[in-house]
Amino acid sequence: MKIAVIPGDGTGPEVTDEALKVLAAVARKQGFEYQLTPYEFGGEYYLRCGEILPEGAVEELREHDAIYLGAVGHPDVAPGILEKGLLLHLRFQLDQYINLRPVELYPGVETPLAGKGPDDINFVVVRENTEDLYCGIGGFLKKGTADEVATQSAVYTRKGCERCIRWAFEYTQRRNNPSGKRLTLVAKTNVLTFGHDLWDRTFREVAREYPDVEADYNHVDACCMWMIKNPEYYDVIVTTNMFGDIITDLGAMLQGGMGVAAGGNINPDEGGTSMFEPMGGSAPKYTGQNVINPIAAIAAMGMLLEHSGQQDAGQQVIEAVKQVTGTRMESQAAGRMGHSTTEVGDLVCEAL
Ligand code: IPM
Ligand code: MN
Repeated sequence: MKIAVIPGDGTGPEVTDEALKVLAAVARKQGFEYQLTPYEFGGEYYLRCGEILPEGAVEELREHDAIYLGAVGHPDVAPGILEKGLLLHLRFQLDQYINLRPVELYPGVETPLAGKGPDDINFVVVRENTEDLYCGIGGFLKKGTADEVATQSAVYTRKGCERCIRWAFEYTQRRNNPSGKRLTLVAKTNVLTFGHDLWDRTFREVAREYPDVEADYNHVDACCMWMIKNPEYYDVIVTTNMFGDIITDLGAMLQGGMGVAAGGNINPDEGGTSMFEPMGGSAPKYTGQNVINPIAAIAAMGMLLEHSGQQDAGQQVIEAVKQVTGTRMESQAAGRMGHSTTEVGDLVCEAL
């Protein structure tokens, strides 16, 4: 397996080290081989070289079976530059049209929801990852004047929503929830009567091909209520890019915070290259202190393996993570884990 590694900025390199440590341990155990190609892209590279990705970088990355990304975001780089030039650029160029974000409360992890535990908080959000408000279409008119106009267009295509919805139905089937397979479309058909009408119609049409999956619908505002009040209701959610961005941060909090939540930017097509990352940012204030939580980064490595032909290894990594959160960690907050960053990585290797 060929894995491109972009440790990135801030605490990205520290948590990436732990994820790689766990990869080495599980590969030894399972007896598979891999090759790592490190890339120094990120804020430091941009400030030094004046470019975000050198010519040909995307093509080189495409040659790998998967990409592992630590974190992007640098205090000396204006917001939007690295996000658009690196993260979103790779998602778009590599056509990673699925953003898969499990919301699973691991054993021993504290949730802010009173009276809810791991049995209640265990669902997955399938976020469309290449369209919507993220396509960067818009502009200014009379910028900086009192008459200024700004537009930002949400673009939805039949192909774009259909391939995401279809993948979500298939994923729901595979997940095979013992309490019933349910896929909930989360959108806003009562206001976005064009774009989300396309999503809704497509969802209903595709649903006919998956009669064993309950095809369900929630408006996004109601979904926010239910995620807090009855998270156990959800099995799999499929949603648009912008709404998916927002509700998965809500989901991350339910599962114990940014130190825990991981995600995958997946191109499931033949020969596609997917990218896996912890959801938390570069956390500059904790950089270099060996206090940041590597659990999300390790879980992202588990997801990478699961989606790159090493299902057993991936599941073993997630199981080891659960053992460590359940029995060895005091908290998931940076600096309050009862262990350093490197110790948590060692504990996961031991559990493996
Ligand atoms: C995420 C992030 C990104 C997004 C940003 C950094 C562009 O918030 O992965 O959820 O909005 O998708
Ligand atoms: Mn986000």
